[in-house]
Amino acid sequence: MLNVEALTVEYWAKRGKIRAVEDVSFSVGKAETLGIVGESGCGKSTLGLSLGLLVPYPGRITRGQIILKGKDILKLKKNELRNLRGREISYVFQDPMTSLNPVKRIGAHFAEFIQTHEPKVSSKEALERTKKFLVDVGIQPERVNDYPHQLSGGMRQRVMIALAMALNPSLIVADEPTTALDVIVQAKILDLLDALRRAYGLTLIIITHDLSLVLERSDKILVMYAGHMVEYARSLDIYSNPQHPYTQGLLRSIPNIELAEQKLEAIAGSPPDMLNLPQGCRFWPRCHRAKERCRIQEPPLVKTNAEHYVRCFAYEGVKKA
Ligand SMILES: Nc1ncnc2c1ncn2[C@@H]1O[C@H](COP(=O)(O)OP(=O)(O)OP(=O)(O)O)[C@@H](O)[C@H]1O
Ligand SMILES: [Mg+2]
Repeated sequence: MLNVEALTVEYWAKRGKIRAVEDVSFSVGKAETLGIVGESGCGKSTLGLSLGLLVPYPGRITRGQIILKGKDILKLKKNELRNLRGREISYVFQDPMTSLNPVKRIGAHFAEFIQTHEPKVSSKEALERTKKFLVDVGIQPERVNDYPHQLSGGMRQRVMIALAMALNPSLIVADEPTTALDVIVQAKILDLLDALRRAYGLTLIIITHDLSLVLERSDKILVMYAGHMVEYARSLDIYSNPQHPYTQGLLRSIPNIELAEQKLEAIAGSPPDMLNLPQGCRFWPRCHRAKERCRIQEPPLVKTNAEHYVRCFAYEGVKKA
């Protein structure tokens, strides 16, 4: 479905060049879910936006390939690009209020979106489609006449998901879709995305800083740190055999109700300034395993198992990815 190869995205800002995403590769199949996790500023959103060629100025994709259904989207023509967004890839962002126009009724948002991409669709047809997707996300169809402020936060996020579904995309990228919601609503929204994935054979990419949210709901997990992918594996392997010290740290900070006496630990320190990266491994200043070499050389990404990749010298000697 989606194959990303050695993707690099840079922002050419006044203060210097930020390589927000560097040499990232992953693949995700039809009806599969990929979780992208990491702390703030590690490049998750930039990676997500690059999949729809939506990286804002002054950012640009400087290297790599994004193959969607066998086609390299970096080579698409302008008219093909319009088809890509909405029809192939759709987005759900963190804060629905910034994406919804407060003076427009819910139905009008859908009509505009559908008819921009499919001008031949009549208003009546667009309304029918809107109601169907609202029902799919658990909202009464009569709500088409509501304004955004008449809905709760969770309902607004459901509306955004219905809107993302309106053109029957094959891939949905959800960037921190539940961060603004309480934990119960959070779980419901993620369950909803999962139900839609199953019903429509959708491919899902969920971006979050909270590993616990995607661990059980994803087939694969991509862990990002300071623009690098530091670990990439099946979720089960991330859970049972985390290899990168950063991933291990993320797991140690998740409460586990099966462990009676669990010591919760946050990872000490904070991610580096992207304009002033440490020499060597980007994680060494926070790593309890760091050796002399880690401060000098950048570790390569190594394949430690069939579908397990990690960027750490501790696993050298295993095949290079
Ligand atoms: N428009 C921009 N111009 C310049 N630099 C940017 C721009 N957008 C993002 N960056 C930089 O790129 C890096 C990655 O940012 P990005 O927003 O992708 O991270 P993130 O993992 O999504 O963070 P968060 O969890 O806070 O959403 C950061 O260092 C950020 O400062
Ligand atoms: Mg982000």
